[in-house]
Amino acid sequence: MLIVETGAALRAALRAPAGGIGFVPTMGFLHEGHMSLMRQARRECGVVVASIFVNPKQFGPREDLARYPRDFARDRAMCEAVGVDVLFAPSVAEMYPPGFATEVSVAPELTGVLCGALRPGHFAGVATVVAKLLNLVNPERAYFGQKDFQQWRVLSRMARDLAFPTEIVRGAIVREADGLAMSSRNTYLSAEDRVAALRLSRSLGLLLRRVADHPLAEALAQARAYLEAEPRLSLQYLSAVDAEHLGPATAAGPGTVALVAAQLGSTRLIDNVILDPHGPDAALCALPL
Ligand code: PAF
Repeated sequence: MLIVETGAALRAALRAPAGGIGFVPTMGFLHEGHMSLMRQARRECGVVVASIFVNPKQFGPREDLARYPRDFARDRAMCEAVGVDVLFAPSVAEMYPPGFATEVSVAPELTGVLCGALRPGHFAGVATVVAKLLNLVNPERAYFGQKDFQQWRVLSRMARDLAFPTEIVRGAIVREADGLAMSSRNTYLSAEDRVAALRLSRSLGLLLRRVADHPLAEALAQARAYLEAEPRLSLQYLSAVDAEHLGPATAAGPGTVALVAAQLGSTRLIDNVILDPHGPDAALCALPL
């Protein structure tokens, strides 16, 4: 595996690879969710590039940039083990040299709702860094986890609107055995908060079961009540939206996604489900309450 730290070295390493490039951008502190994206890229592409960059532009002033977990040696070994060919690990100065003055922003229709309403500037930070990374790596396919559904939706729209020659692939959510969606931020959770955090995935399982024989609004109200019954958890939103435009949904189905965000102590967690009992998240139906 090659490790490169500058854009120029990356471009030189990636000239015309056979089989196309699959790219998995990350902020490091890798877990099985990232590994499954890297394995998918390994299966589907000739060359696999991963990046590790904790992007300061996507953190708000009161968010966890300074304490975001980092372990480069461990991440590097995990990338190597899964068959990553090139690991791009730039410094902040490499990505944002003095005078950097450009921002990529996607319309508020997609970025001013859900997490975007609570994290002003977050998606502009994500779109800006991903646009730069896509230009550096020039992949055939770039892989993003469904756990960050809104991020995947925003980046798909950006890539389409700006004619990036890259397919923005959405990889399935990887969960712990008890249903908690994997996230680098799970490492922040106390033992009590770890138990309370199970309510996120369980509320989505409840919702998925209920929409089979209840109107969507009623099912959402039941799932919301279940979340609000846990005092350690402060619910930010539980919403069902149209998966394409992120506008309010009126009925469940393969084109509807329900998203949840909650604060547990100082940790913010998110999760989501495609509201189709026969869809990719059907296993959530089996989660207990
Ligand atoms: O999902 C993430 O880890 C980040 O938002 C990403 C896509 C690597 C951009 O910094």
